[in-house]
Amino acid sequence: MIIERQEQVTDAVLAAMSDTGNPRLAVIMNSLVRHLHDFVREVQLTEPEFEQAIGAVVALGQLTTATHNEVVLAADVIGLSTLVCLMNNGPAGNTETAAALLGPFWRMNSPVTRNGDSIVRSPTPGENLAVRCAVRDVNGAPVAGAVVDVWQASPVGMYENQDPDQADMNLRGQFTTDAEGRFWFSSVKPAGYPVPTHGIVGTLLAAQKRAPLRPAHIHFLIYKPGFKTLVSQIFVDDEQQLQSDVVFGVTRSLVGKLDRGADGLSLAHDFVLAPGEAILPTPPIS
Ligand code: BEZ
Ligand code: FE
Repeated sequence: MIIERQEQVTDAVLAAMSDTGNPRLAVIMNSLVRHLHDFVREVQLTEPEFEQAIGAVVALGQLTTATHNEVVLAADVIGLSTLVCLMNNGPAGNTETAAALLGPFWRMNSPVTRNGDSIVRSPTPGENLAVRCAVRDVNGAPVAGAVVDVWQASPVGMYENQDPDQADMNLRGQFTTDAEGRFWFSSVKPAGYPVPTHGIVGTLLAAQKRAPLRPAHIHFLIYKPGFKTLVSQIFVDDEQQLQSDVVFGVTRSLVGKLDRGADGLSLAHDFVLAPGEAILPTPPIS
């Protein structure tokens, strides 16, 4: 098609793509082109702004390394990652535990740890925290033999792989639920932490006057054949921090119940697994 007016550009592109063989690719690209063209019209994008946008996409790629993914981080801070996560893992029957982002810090092969043991593997000053959890199916029956990976930041807000002061695999562990579906361990209360701000995402957050902070949380990945793998986080921070998670990861049902009893601080949480396929995600780091 030879274009005579700018109004014809969108239709020309849609027509050029109309023989796409893969039907899902056809739906996605058709919608993407329509929305992008509408976006350009809506904001009346100028040529310098277009150049800047292209530069930003290039920078996202260039800043991405084996240990840092600036593209994912950009998706995180505009809520895209959480939207895709909740859309695809929403409670189908209003019973199973809500999913939350895997994040960039899950490692495979966390140390196998017995129930009741500690995941503190090198001196880690902070408040002791006892964590007691149970895993059930959607009918309330205990799920025995589920494998549970746990990982968290330290009380200074750093994962062990970011912090030379922590032993390898500190604050990580792999548990197996007992006959009653329970797993439990001791740890230290995690702190919130900033997402990396050395790149284009940091520049954007500063321009938007947003704090780059995630509220304190513990990650859980629960796996058992016959159940949909649950990737989730339990938040242990105060309400104010929970309100401003830079990656929009806090959902109400994932706010943990902390109890300060005579034995110290404890967190209890029950997880509910939906039936489905047990698939492990690709680890973002090794
Ligand atoms: C995390 O929870 O570990 C995380 C999630 C998204 C971006 C950065 C960190
Ligand atoms: Fe995290």
